[in-house]
Amino acid sequence: MEMMIRARRNRRTPAIRGLVRETGISVDDLILPVFFHEDAEDVAIESMPGCTRWTVSGLIAEVESVWKMGIRAVVLFPKIAEELKSANGAACADDEGLVPQVIRAIKKACPGMCVITDVALDPYSSDGHDGIVERGEDGSLKILNDETVEVLCEQALCHARAGADIVAPSDMMDGRIGAIRVALDEAGFEETGIMAYTAKYASAFYGPFRGALDSAPKEGDKKTYQMDPGNVREAVRELLMDEEEGADIVMVKPAGPYLDVIARLRDETTLPIAAYQVSGEYLMIKSACGGGWLDEKAVVMESLLGIKRAGADMILTYFAKDVAGWLK
Ligand code: PBG
Repeated sequence: MEMMIRARRNRRTPAIRGLVRETGISVDDLILPVFFHEDAEDVAIESMPGCTRWTVSGLIAEVESVWKMGIRAVVLFPKIAEELKSANGAACADDEGLVPQVIRAIKKACPGMCVITDVALDPYSSDGHDGIVERGEDGSLKILNDETVEVLCEQALCHARAGADIVAPSDMMDGRIGAIRVALDEAGFEETGIMAYTAKYASAFYGPFRGALDSAPKEGDKKTYQMDPGNVREAVRELLMDEEEGADIVMVKPAGPYLDVIARLRDETTLPIAAYQVSGEYLMIKSACGGGWLDEKAVVMESLLGIKRAGADMILTYFAKDVAGWLK
């Protein structure tokens, strides 16, 4: 056959494929979400096979071990004791609480580790919502925006005081990025970054996470604050607000089912984009690979590559430790 162009020439050898490869995964791209509690035992998380809810000392050992493997960032998710939960989630700003304690311990054991914290009320809320709940006369639930933002600012300040590098508001209240930025700056924490959960969808893929932390809403759902899965223009709207309010990094969550949203935000912003491969995405891959028909390593790497190719700079993934090992 006579052909001027043969695309396969660039695929002929591993060396050539390496030269022309457009996207890759590096351990620098990875953020490991970690779970922990105040209890005395490390507990295997039933809803997320291979993940553990650590004691504080177990967590510190884990963080030191992943640091040695090259992972440079963790995001903290506490399971809070039932008796500390309340309607306004006030325990979230206690300087002697579990999260600030863990931040200080990680910074002591592993000073170079980038510590990212989740800012939202759900672990502390007796209602299991990310904001403060008001019950109408007719029994309907309303999540109060501005009242919640005040508490979130206290929570972010508490994390900053303990030494967090970046706070990550995952609550989806309006105006919280700007309010947290101002609160941090006024307290002298100009250097504390904000990773905004910019486009966080009201997704069914968070189920295993809520199982891990026992943090599912007691009543109702999160659809009045998390985004409708059908919307992408609205993600751009959220992006414009978060940019204006001083976000340092913007996030899309979940990742795999929302690659178009990542790509769209990539076109619209110069800010770094994080994508969160959430618990349901993790569980799907884990369960599917159990039968032996899928090669777990290959499937995980391909799923992450897709997320990077869509435009993400960094990925929060429960596979981070496995990936760091595979890349070695
Ligand atoms: C809570 C929060 C959730 C996740 C991260 N932060 C759950 C939710 O919004 O209900 C989900 C992460 C995952 O599923 O892996 N603010």
